[in-house]
Amino acid sequence: MEKNRQIILVSRPPQQGWLSEENFRLVEAPLPQPREGEILVRNHWLSLDPYMRGRMNEARSYALPQPLGEVMLGGTAGEVIVSKHPGFKPGDQVVGRLGWQEYALSEGAGLRKVNADSATPLSAYLSVLGMPGVTAWIGLFDICQPQAGQTVVVTAAAGAVGSVVGQLAKLRGCRVVGVAGGVDKCRYVVEELGFDACLDYKVGALWPALKAATPERIDCLFENVGGEIFDTLLGRMNAHARIALCGMIAQYNSAPYPLRNLSSLLVNRIRLQGFIVTELTERWPVALADLGEHVAAGRLKYRESVVEGLAQAPAALIGLLRGENFGKQLVRLV
Ligand SMILES: NC(=O)c1ccc[n+]([C@@H]2O[C@H](COP(=O)([O-])OP(=O)(O)OC[C@H]3O[C@@H](n4cnc5c(N)ncnc54)[C@H](OP(=O)(O)O)[C@@H]3O)[C@@H](O)[C@H]2O)c1
Repeated sequence: MEKNRQIILVSRPPQQGWLSEENFRLVEAPLPQPREGEILVRNHWLSLDPYMRGRMNEARSYALPQPLGEVMLGGTAGEVIVSKHPGFKPGDQVVGRLGWQEYALSEGAGLRKVNADSATPLSAYLSVLGMPGVTAWIGLFDICQPQAGQTVVVTAAAGAVGSVVGQLAKLRGCRVVGVAGGVDKCRYVVEELGFDACLDYKVGALWPALKAATPERIDCLFENVGGEIFDTLLGRMNAHARIALCGMIAQYNSAPYPLRNLSSLLVNRIRLQGFIVTELTERWPVALADLGEHVAAGRLKYRESVVEGLAQAPAALIGLLRGENFGKQLVRLV
């Protein structure tokens, strides 16, 4: 009989330290059989995302911790294999949150049907046409609200969210400066994505390069990283600037960084807003429609880092948190 393979979380990493592959276990289970009102989905792609590290902790947050002994939570894209649900038929392509497993049962709640084709592959619905793309869109347009001619800075600029932020800001007519780790990532965001400049934070002091790249200071900061980089950027903000606080990945595996430039918020009368994209459901349709138009017209480019097979997911999540990914980190299952 065919089996399902799943990855479960078996232990928690230290609250302020690195996760390891030993925190996970690959297990086999019987292939689940759908009952009336359910579908069986074959997952083709898993999305790996930085928030997964936060959920491995037991600490209070905006979402409950990932339970021990259960299948790792996570975004998926796949195909309906068996349907006992009136709203789905075999062959339907669905994007949802069915976790780190090859097959999953669902009652359909939280599943989005999509029409992938050769121009827009199924994996794109986990990146530019999915949660990271919508995060970029909402953080940029609803929170940062950049005007043409203003300077937008985005950190983790070569990643899934950051790469979309910078391209959308260029389409809005802004000067766009990315911050990324390494010469290859910086070359990519400038030469292929069209950013005006990119600062490689790994080559030395960020401040002189930042000053040179932002002659009119920063009007909008889309912050994905936190820590020392964020602190440095805070020192370069304009009066009445806006900050979309999207992520603080620099401290997901370490102690919080004490900010020295917090007074910039007061002195510059800055509006800073944290946000969680999954709570802003009313904005998803408009964001997805706009992103879809840009992708179809070739105005938004995206890139994927792909590892093969479920067993690679833990190592790839660690790699993502270390910055080994270029664009969206995915696991291909089929
Ligand atoms: N608020 C929300 O609703 C929401 C939704 C989605 C994502 N997020 C957040 O958005 C951020 C980006 O997510 P993503 O999915 O697009 O991931 P990503 O940017 O594709 O991948 C993470 C990147 O973070 C960078 N990074 C890791 N550690 C770093 C450090 N210590 N200092 C500087 N950069 C570091 C690495 O790029 P480099 O090689 O350039 O360092 C790495 O490639 C994350 O903070 C995530 O938690 C928030």
